[in-house]
Amino acid sequence: MARPRFHRVRVESVTPVAADGSAVEVTCVVPDELTDAFAFTPGQHVTVRLPVDGRQIRRAYSLCSTPRELTARGRLRLGVRLVPGGTFSSHAARDLTPGDQLELLSPVGTFGVPFDPARRRRYAAVAAGSGITPVLSLVATALDTEPGSRFTVLYGNRAASSTMFADELGDLKDRHPRRLHLVHLFSREQPRAGLPRGRLDRATLDVLLPRLVRPAEVDEWFVCGPAGMVSEAAAALAGHGVDPATVRTELFHVGESPRESRTEPAGDAAEVSVVMDGRVTTVPLEPGRSVLDAVMAARPDVPYSCQTGVCGTCRARVVEGEVRMARTWALTDEDRAAGDILTCQAVPLTDRVRIDFDVL
Ligand code: FES
Repeated sequence: MARPRFHRVRVESVTPVAADGSAVEVTCVVPDELTDAFAFTPGQHVTVRLPVDGRQIRRAYSLCSTPRELTARGRLRLGVRLVPGGTFSSHAARDLTPGDQLELLSPVGTFGVPFDPARRRRYAAVAAGSGITPVLSLVATALDTEPGSRFTVLYGNRAASSTMFADELGDLKDRHPRRLHLVHLFSREQPRAGLPRGRLDRATLDVLLPRLVRPAEVDEWFVCGPAGMVSEAAAALAGHGVDPATVRTELFHVGESPRESRTEPAGDAAEVSVVMDGRVTTVPLEPGRSVLDAVMAARPDVPYSCQTGVCGTCRARVVEGEVRMARTWALTDEDRAAGDILTCQAVPLTDRVRIDFDVL
């Protein structure tokens, strides 16, 4: 897999995808020569880079479109929830217009599974708010690719009006009435008769999950939303006998700045060597700085986005020395066993550390 890089693509449209206008979908045109660079698997995300007041902001957004849309029509769609004061989301909703250029980092992420037309599987997702964005791509691809598979989606929102992609999900339901089971849950409005009400917390999930599926018989679970919801859902699934190896999670909205997130001790000064694109760069690392901080100054093309340990864009592998990390949400147990790290969270434990971006 090639290291993710930024490319410029043209915006085709910016379309509201929630009835109250609180979310938009940005559709980008990917020229033929960039199709391979933007090839992705459902559940992955891209990073947008935007110059603002002389600095660059980066934000990660999940793709709601499918790989087939990319290969057949050359289109990528990102789902963007408008965040009060949010730099990119405000720009997307207010200023972004067809014909504008966007700088996108090619897709990354591990929130997904390979689909196979020969398989008959049972999938289920628990998504809150904008957590539906990668789930939509997974659901559409699974139903399209695996005619024998079924998908159950439990989707929580405050109200019907703030629900992202309600129409697109409804269309999927109409096309696959027997294979898609879609259940909406609203925390701030009275549901129609027979539908549940509440937040996606442990107590609600304990009641709802066994009504929807036999949890332990689902082959793959996808859980996406804020950290609290994701951990409550994981606990509820474990309580219903679900094997943790079948549960994939993706966090949104950690809600802290990168600096606040560094709860680990500062560590001592160290020397960091980074291998990227076959070139080795060695830089000093001051106490209290992350490996990413040190690398960024010398190699500005280093991939990163959230700097809070959530998106996984800054992932690399330690090939010499040791580090510790405050957060490893974007890594699986297998990733950690292989020596993969999130450079934005990594603080050296040894005098010398060598990091390789090329081996992933
Ligand atoms: S930049 Fe997002 S996990 Fe490091």
